[in-house]
Amino acid sequence: MERYLATLEHEELLVRRGRRSGAYCVVAVHSTARGPALGGCRMWRYDDSRSAVRDALRLSRAMTFKSAVAGLPLGGGKGVIMLRDGVPAGRGRRDVLLDFADTVEALAGRYVTAEDVGTSARDMTVIAENTAHVTGLSRRRGSSGDPSPFTALGVEAAVLTTCERVFGSTSLRGRSISVLGLGNVGLRLARLLTKRGATLVVADIDPARRADAQRLGARWTTPEKALTAAVDLVAPCALGAILDHDAVARLQAPAVAGAANNQLADESVAVTLDQRGILWAPDFVANAGGIINIAVELEPEGYDPSRARRRVRGIATTLGQIFDAAAGGAITPLTAAMELARRRLAERHG
Ligand code: NAI
Repeated sequence: MERYLATLEHEELLVRRGRRSGAYCVVAVHSTARGPALGGCRMWRYDDSRSAVRDALRLSRAMTFKSAVAGLPLGGGKGVIMLRDGVPAGRGRRDVLLDFADTVEALAGRYVTAEDVGTSARDMTVIAENTAHVTGLSRRRGSSGDPSPFTALGVEAAVLTTCERVFGSTSLRGRSISVLGLGNVGLRLARLLTKRGATLVVADIDPARRADAQRLGARWTTPEKALTAAVDLVAPCALGAILDHDAVARLQAPAVAGAANNQLADESVAVTLDQRGILWAPDFVANAGGIINIAVELEPEGYDPSRARRRVRGIATTLGQIFDAAAGGAITPLTAAMELARRRLAERHG
């Protein structure tokens, strides 16, 4: 409980029971220091309300740092729709989404929502019926659409920068890379890396993905073997907490850069990685392509995919600065990234 209270540094926390669905809708606004608090809406089944609130608090804080490091004029927020039973469909789903929309609207623009685990672009269209503070609608509506291609593009930039530091070149010809998780981001990333001449080892818990591996000409293996393979770089693109102290002890690759959120089981794992001489691209820097793309939607000129791609490629520069600061200050890339985020947050306060 003490740990839980320690993270309560947020500007606002709104918990409302939906009048249509009875489902609890939670929005945490961690910071608006740099702009409106943007973060996705997670629709998930929670056994108790504290876990739902904790998720919103934890994830909104992470969004503040992610957007600050990317230099975006955005703060950090997160929405959670707390499901008790199964995932609602039809009329029930619509009711839940409209209840969440009312919660967003009550914050008058201090929070802006988007897709996340459990919600889709179509859900955002329903939410948009009751609030204007929503992003990630379809491209047909002049919005930025699916963020995954942009996330993959940003991770590719992070992979190149990481390889440059470790091997002295951004060329992927002759490099071997292991991609864990061939989902929306991982598969796209795998295609981009293959095009650049890398040899891939891939894994997914979903056997249906094996056909994708074949099409890519990649070697299919188990997730554990992919993680510990003797490759040049590991790209975690599945779920979080994949790197704990034990896993890091088994890694053979000298570099890690991927899309998965919260890759480190604990922040101290960054030190273990460093001690083993493994260069880790902080996840919230490498996977910011999706949010950078959404931020373009909020610019006065409106959304433009080529401007978005340019901005996303800027992840290479940001990550390069972080690696420089880490090497120069004998600190981990995680500490360097957090320091950059804090400086950017302070700039806006100043
Ligand atoms: P997704 O759900 O489309 O893909 C995840 C893939 O990982 C699935 O194919 C799943 O079967 C596989 N998987 C799950 N557990 C696994 C395991 N233990 N070992 C190997 N494979 C496993 O998700 P998406 O959108 O591709 O996201 C991937 C990661 O990137 C997530 O951690 C997500 O939070 C993060 N991320 C995604 C963004 C986006 O734009 N989609 C933006 C920023 C972060």
